[in-house]
Amino acid sequence: MPDYIKFVDSVKRKTGIDLAAYKEAQMKRRLTSLYEKKGFKNFVDFFQALDKDRDLLNEFLDRMTINVSEFYRNAKRWDVLEQKIFPKLLADNRRLKIWSAACSTGEEPYTTAMVLSNHQTLSQISVLATDLDENAIGRAKVGIYPERSLAEVPANMKSKYFEKQAAFYKVDGAIKKTVTFKKHNLLKDTYDKNFDLIICRNVMIYFTEEAKDLIYQNFSNSLKPGGILFVGSTEQIFNPGKYGFETEDTFFYRKK
Ligand SMILES: C[S@@+](CC[C@H](N)C(=O)[O-])C[C@H]1O[C@@H](n2cnc3c(N)ncnc32)[C@H](O)[C@@H]1O
Repeated sequence: MPDYIKFVDSVKRKTGIDLAAYKEAQMKRRLTSLYEKKGFKNFVDFFQALDKDRDLLNEFLDRMTINVSEFYRNAKRWDVLEQKIFPKLLADNRRLKIWSAACSTGEEPYTTAMVLSNHQTLSQISVLATDLDENAIGRAKVGIYPERSLAEVPANMKSKYFEKQAAFYKVDGAIKKTVTFKKHNLLKDTYDKNFDLIICRNVMIYFTEEAKDLIYQNFSNSLKPGGILFVGSTEQIFNPGKYGFETEDTFFYRKK
């Protein structure tokens, strides 16, 4: 069995993570550069080592997940969410059920709550935020970020919802209270139902076509009719009808 395939198999047995669902060339390149840096010669040696070494396993998880995020990422899209999508959703229902999937270190679900706070009080807002990576979730719960993560935050929101602490910014406690973090693997775990809004951005790019297909279908099943899927700015769905979606705006899809 080729080296990488064996590695994928062993990782799946050990962690439940299915590397086969991620684009192979990209994933292989990232992991090869990590094991070479650590002085291993091939994937078999690398797995034997990470099987015994918790820190190395964590480094592997860190490398494979790519946690890059920022507040108001692609700010113009968040304007569309605020000015077009939320007013429509709120016209039908004042208690929106919202899921930020693959939320990384929390910038996305916190941004969602900030944007929605322009329409509702924080006590009316609740956002479920999930990721595969427990380390990222841990950092999200702490809610302290370097200045570069806030580059796109509007000035009024920055002064309202962040507290400067030396070189860092802390998210306001009232915003934190609106978000519930949980571990969830999009490839394996069951999806909750009846969402008004699902936000899943900048993770689909890493998946194979088969994995994307499965996840879009799952999202569609998890949305209420009229509910919205908000995707990343390089992640247009080319055949939305296949999943029962209509295009609502660029990067926003409505479940029929
Ligand atoms: C680049 S970040 C995107 C963060 C945020 N959504 C954004 O757009 O800024 C990708 C995230 O996807 C997560 N991820 C990768 N595979 C996943 C899976 N199978 N299930 C859930 N999350 C996953 C990673 O842990 C990482 O935090």
